[in-house]
Amino acid sequence: MSESVKVERDGAVLVVTLARPEKKNALTGAMYEKLIAAFVAASDDDAVGALVIEGSGGVFCAGNDIGDFIAYAIAPGGASQLPGMRFIYALARFAKPLVAAVDGAAVGIGATLCLHCDLVYASPNARFHMPFVDLGLAPEAGSSLLLPQRFGRARAAEYLMLCEPFDAETARGGGLVNAVVDAAGLRAYALDKARALAAKPRQALLATRRLLRGDEAALIARMDDEAKAFVAALKSPEARAAFMSFMSRAKG
Ligand code: COA
Repeated sequence: MSESVKVERDGAVLVVTLARPEKKNALTGAMYEKLIAAFVAASDDDAVGALVIEGSGGVFCAGNDIGDFIAYAIAPGGASQLPGMRFIYALARFAKPLVAAVDGAAVGIGATLCLHCDLVYASPNARFHMPFVDLGLAPEAGSSLLLPQRFGRARAAEYLMLCEPFDAETARGGGLVNAVVDAAGLRAYALDKARALAAKPRQALLATRRLLRGDEAALIARMDDEAKAFVAALKSPEARAAFMSFMSRAKG
């Protein structure tokens, strides 16, 4: 049984590893809680200058655990309290530099969290996919705003409406990925960049990051809109059918 999320210090960098490879690093409620705790720890610790997030086992992250989606869909009450929802708001409000090292599949939140990272490095095996519509869901984590900012509306429609996946080179061309790096050297490369960020004058770096990210209120407002659509969709029969179909496929 894996640890699910590993958090380690490397000098001034906090390295967060999604460590549930047997389930392609799909995120459970407990994993979201650990990720939120890592953000809080990084925010509260002046010695931490940057955070790296990586996957394991040749996969970045297969998105939200679909079994959890089924459980939430039938649970009464406010889905705004879902750990995944709280995680994306913590991600959007996190003030320190974020670096992603993406090897293999980055699906759902695994892809959309990269839109919040300042630097994203991907292996040639990286494959980004946002199949929200195919699952009967709506976009999340501000992706309906942030994705067209990177790729333009036409290509964002291919990724969010047609749910077409795209590879590392396409992501680099669209400005989502900084560089494509061989899987063997990916972690070291991302860590080097994070160390470089952490060594910069802190206040100047944080101010620059805040300015580059733009209007946080507009982002949060869009996430609020998305959350309403997402939560309504989560409880829909079509979403439930899509989740059940995935889970029975996996077992078959
Ligand atoms: N939730 C729950 N379990 C998941 C999962 C998820 N999001 N993604 C993968 N798994 C599980 C599978 O059920 C399978 O479990 P099993 O071994 O007990 O049957 C295991 O992880 C391996 O997955 P598998 O699909 O066999 O691996 P693959 O290499 O063929 O494909 C992916 C990898 C990531 C492309 C594929 O698993 C996938 O599409 N996952 C779903 C992604 C998704 O739709 N996420 C939600 C987005 S909102």
